[in-house]
Parts: sequence; structure tokens; C-alpha cells
Amino acid sequence: MAILFTDITHRRDTIYALVKKYMPDHDVRLWPDVGNPDEIDYAIAWKPVPNSLQGLPSLKALFLTSAGVDATITDVTLPDVPVIRCVNTTLSDGMAEHVAYHVLKFHRQFHKYEQQQRDHSWVQLRQPGAPHCTVGIMGMGEMGQACVRVLQAFGYTLRGWSRTPKNIAGVEHFSGDDALRPFLNGCHIVVCVLPLTDETRGILCTDNLQHLPVGSYLISAGRGGHMDADDILSLVGNGHLAGAALDVFETEPLPSDHPFWSEPNIIVTPHIASITDYAALCADIKEQMARHAAGQPFRNVVNRVRGY
Ligand code: NDP
Ligand code: OXD
Repeated sequence: MAILFTDITHRRDTIYALVKKYMPDHDVRLWPDVGNPDEIDYAIAWKPVPNSLQGLPSLKALFLTSAGVDATITDVTLPDVPVIRCVNTTLSDGMAEHVAYHVLKFHRQFHKYEQQQRDHSWVQLRQPGAPHCTVGIMGMGEMGQACVRVLQAFGYTLRGWSRTPKNIAGVEHFSGDDALRPFLNGCHIVVCVLPLTDETRGILCTDNLQHLPVGSYLISAGRGGHMDADDILSLVGNGHLAGAALDVFETEPLPSDHPFWSEPNIIVTPHIASITDYAALCADIKEQMARHAAGQPFRNVVNRVRGY
């Protein structure tokens, strides 16, 4: 039994070293050193090298090192095996920390105090209490619900939006395309933790975000393809958005001449909202392989038709 590690991203060698470290008892091979293709039972990737999973007759599943699957399931060379995404509490807790940090920053106006310190300016700004600040979360899956748990502790008024209806205590829930604009309409801070699919690409555009109240904030941590960059720049430029915290971009690393870097009301972070914990990931892969060997179904299998 062997595992093939195949990855096309700039982090390939780092991730491979971590997988080797946390799976010392397994024969993990780095593509293109496949060896005997009949021996490969599983594959691991963030984004597999195109065609690298063809011609592996024993392949049972592909484990992704990410929660997001858009980079992988759009690959037409992917064989018809279960694709299993990364789901664990370290990943969703990390997202909740990132989102809570920015919600608190925007609600309590710490971004303005940072500027005031640079200006040596002592001004106490007013802000509403947390219950008067409505935070809307686009995407109410693993990430969105982890954010809810943390933000509830601060007393924010919470809204959620997803494809299907949900009943989550303390959250006013909206579902489906027709509910998006009514959902946005009352949000002082909107958080996007959607997956990138054909339906969600470009969803953070003027047509939708103009339904937010003037002076609201955006926290985007799903995928860069959700944003229309020109629209975000003009909404921040004209003050409809008072600020935006952007963690994910259409092109990563974000090109050094991109206008996002120098817009004072945009905070750029390098796709760190939540970083995969490879010890937890490898423990889960080992457990999933054992489950399969015992005749049990895999968990966290991606619905490739739905796109997430
Ligand atoms: P889940 O699959 O658990 O949840 C996805 C949510 O999005 C679900 O609530 C789903 O609705 C909703 N959704 C999907 N399509 C639509 C649509 N067309 N309209 C409305 N709602 C929709 O994913 P996770 O929460 O685990 O992860 C979400 C994304 O976060 C990942 O795909 C990845 O892109 C990003 N991510 C970013 C990280 C970072 O560091 N920046 C780290 C980890 C993840 P429903 O519940 O009805 O199915
Ligand atoms: C993920 C990510 O999807 O890191 O896990 O963005």
C-alpha cells in the first residue's frame, strides 16, 4: 500500500515534508516518482498535478489538504474516486479567530485608533454596543458555524446565508439566491466564507454589496474568485464600504502592484485566515483509511456535482 503526494502549488515541498513527518509509517511517494502504479491506494494534494492521478488502478480516494475544493474538482483529469476535503476543528477554530479579530477591529474601530496613533491624535470614538451591530455570515458550513459560536459570545446580532434553510439558535437565517439581498440589507459587517463554485463566483460585486448599509464592512476569507476586485475598490473608494479585510485573492500571492495593497481602508493578509494543521490532517487521513479498510464509508466526501 502506498500513497502518492501530488501537488502543483508553490508549497509542494513544504507540505510533502510535513506529510512525511506525520505519516512516518506509510510509503508516501512524491509525484512523479510513482514507482509501481498498482501499489498506489491513496493520493494527497492541495491541487494535484493534472493527469497525475490517471493510470492508478488501485486508487481508492484523494485526500485534500484544504477545506476548499475549487482548485481540484475543476480538473477534468481527476479520476472518478471520492475526493475528501480537510475538515477539523483546528481549521474552523482558526477561521473563527480570524473573523472575530476583524469583527472586533471594525466594530470597536481599532483600525482608526491605529491611524490616530500614527497621527498622535487622542480621540475617543463612539460605537454601538455589540447587540446593535449585525454581522452577516455568507456560508453557514463548518467555517460559518464556527464563526457563529465565537461571535455569539460577544453578543453580536447574527445573520446567516446559505443555499439550504437552517435552524441555528440565535441566528436569523436566510437561504437561497432570492434571500441574498434582504440578508445583506441589514448587515453592518458581512463575512464571506462561501466555497467558490459556479454559483458563488463574483458574488462580492457592486450589484449585491450595494444592498449593504452605507459604511458597512466586508471580511472576505472564502476564495478570491468571490470578489470583483474593481467593484470592491470602488465601493471602498466611495465609502459605501468603510473598510474590507481581504485574505484570499484571485491570484495568489497577490501581485505586488495590485491596488489592494495601498488602499488605506483595505487590510490584506496572505491567505492565513486558517492554516491547515498537518498533524491533525494526517491523523484524519490515517483514521479514514482505517475506516475504509473496516468497510465503513469515508467522511467529508465532496459533492463534485454541487461543487463543494
Ligand atoms: P462547507 O461546505 O462546510 O460550507 C459551505 C457553506 O456555503 C454551506 O453553508 C453552503 O450552503 C454554503 N453555500 C454553498 N454554495 C452556496 C450558494 N450558491 N448560495 C448560498 N450558500 C451556499 O465549507 P467550509 O465552511 O468548510 O469552507 C468554506 C470555504 O472557506 C472553503 O470552500 C474555502 O474556500 C474557505 N476556506 C478559507 C480558508 C482561509 O484560510 N482563507 C481556510 C479554510 C476554508 P448549505 O449549507 O445550504 O449547503
Ligand atoms: C482551505 C484554505 O481551503 O486554506 O483549507 O483556504
